[in-house]
Amino acid sequence: MNEIMTRLRDLVGPAGWLDAPADLAPYEKEERGLFHGKARAVVRPADTREVAAVLKFCNEHRLPVVPQGGNTGLVGGGVPDTSGTQIILSLARLDKIRALDPVNDTMTVEAGVVLADIQNRAADADRLFPLSLAAEGSCRIGGNLSTNAGGINVLRYGMARDLVLGLEVVLADGRVLDTMTGLRKDNTGYDLKQIFLGAEGTLGIITAAVLKLFPAMREVETCFVALPDPKAGIELLGRAKAESGGNVQAFELTERRLIDFVLAHIPGTADPLAEKHPWYALIEFAAGDLGGALKAMVERLLERAMEDGLILDAAIASSEQQRKALWKLRESMTEAQKPEGASIKHDISVPVSSVPDFLARGAAAVEAFVPGARVCAFGHAGDGNIHFNVSRPLDWADDKFQALRHEMNARVHAIVAEYRGSISAEHGIGILKRDELPQHKDATALELMRTLKAAFDPNNILNPGKLLP
Ligand code: FAD
Ligand code: MLT
Ligand code: ZN
Repeated sequence: MNEIMTRLRDLVGPAGWLDAPADLAPYEKEERGLFHGKARAVVRPADTREVAAVLKFCNEHRLPVVPQGGNTGLVGGGVPDTSGTQIILSLARLDKIRALDPVNDTMTVEAGVVLADIQNRAADADRLFPLSLAAEGSCRIGGNLSTNAGGINVLRYGMARDLVLGLEVVLADGRVLDTMTGLRKDNTGYDLKQIFLGAEGTLGIITAAVLKLFPAMREVETCFVALPDPKAGIELLGRAKAESGGNVQAFELTERRLIDFVLAHIPGTADPLAEKHPWYALIEFAAGDLGGALKAMVERLLERAMEDGLILDAAIASSEQQRKALWKLRESMTEAQKPEGASIKHDISVPVSSVPDFLARGAAAVEAFVPGARVCAFGHAGDGNIHFNVSRPLDWADDKFQALRHEMNARVHAIVAEYRGSISAEHGIGILKRDELPQHKDATALELMRTLKAAFDPNNILNPGKLLP
């Protein structure tokens, strides 16, 4: 090991240092298997002070740093390039919940705390931390905040950035920015924390956050409804929001193909309805103590929707076990696509009102481009976010299909652009969409992003090559 590496290792000690190839391997590849890099070493600091020392050193020696949380990201943002020069900075050891204030409704957590642990700690205190996604058992809050994660409850509680009251960030030169106030009102100038939320580790390293908590729900109703088409689904969403007085907390749409994939590949799943239908929505309502009135409201809503032909059939969970079974169908969708071979993903958003139109046009464009390609459209339709994924034709090799990724992306994203939609609703840009970004981002916005990058990270050591083309 050369002198620079020895000095870097000394900053974190043996417990915070990995450089054997077998130890580096899991950090060098990502969830989807699209990107596989090579790291010089992995540093695993124990606290903010060590993160600051590492960054100061790396900045002085121009060592590129790739932050990593749970490594569940879907755009390749957390893995190094293939040069073998980049240092992975894992936040996994910053795993303490520093405080919970039930009166202020806040929880103070370090960046490496696993999302599910935050949800559970909130529940233990009779509170709700509403960020929820299928990777919640392994993603870490620093990664969630750096990608501004979305998930299933955005339509009621907003994205990750809406759940943050304060942030602790180590800057490229090792200075620590501390906005950990836990205040809901603070108009003392620029809201600097927002710059780092969704920045994918390119502007600073998030080491801790003050998160907002909400009242725990007393009544929850979850239903799985069969739909003739997405248009009926979006009409049902409008009725559900109006009739529940804003108590819809999740509205997930899916076409039948995903249900078939889940039933085929995920053990312990079953179709909740007797017959097959073209489209479905998984809807969750939640409220405080209404004396059981939420259930009656949901039953009325579904009855009327059935009379009006908006829904074809429905199942309402009557126990926590049934509720979990319905969510398992939804949460397994990413996993269930893998055995079906190569998949080209489009994590897009359009105005909620345009979802049905987009789905029809997107499917027609894909099928015209690659006959036999299998559209797998599903996702958070309640906030206009569709995972418009496409699995390869059954008789194609993975490589042949992946070779068409850029052209397929271009065709689908051209339709998205017509609605002024987004080519990355919630997963971020990373490497996957970096080179496509200029086509879809306002030129002035991109220029300002570069200005920020130069100001915060003048030596370009923070996640270089990610996000910004
Ligand atoms: P990582 O993958 O480790 O890192 C993500 C990015 O953040 C990288 O660019 C990394 O460099 C940077 N980073 C990580 N930690 C820090 C830090 N402390 N400071 C600065 N930068 C940092 N995403 C959604 O938004 N909604 C979903 O519904 C959703 N569902 C998913 C379902 C499955 C099954 C899977 C596998 C993924 C899903 N994702 C979803 C994507 C992923 O889980 C999220 O992007 C998550 O927020 C990433 O967290 P992580 O800790 O794994 O971050
Ligand atoms: C999800 O919502 O399940 C993921 O964000 C979708 C995906 O894996 O494409
Ligand atoms: Zn999603």
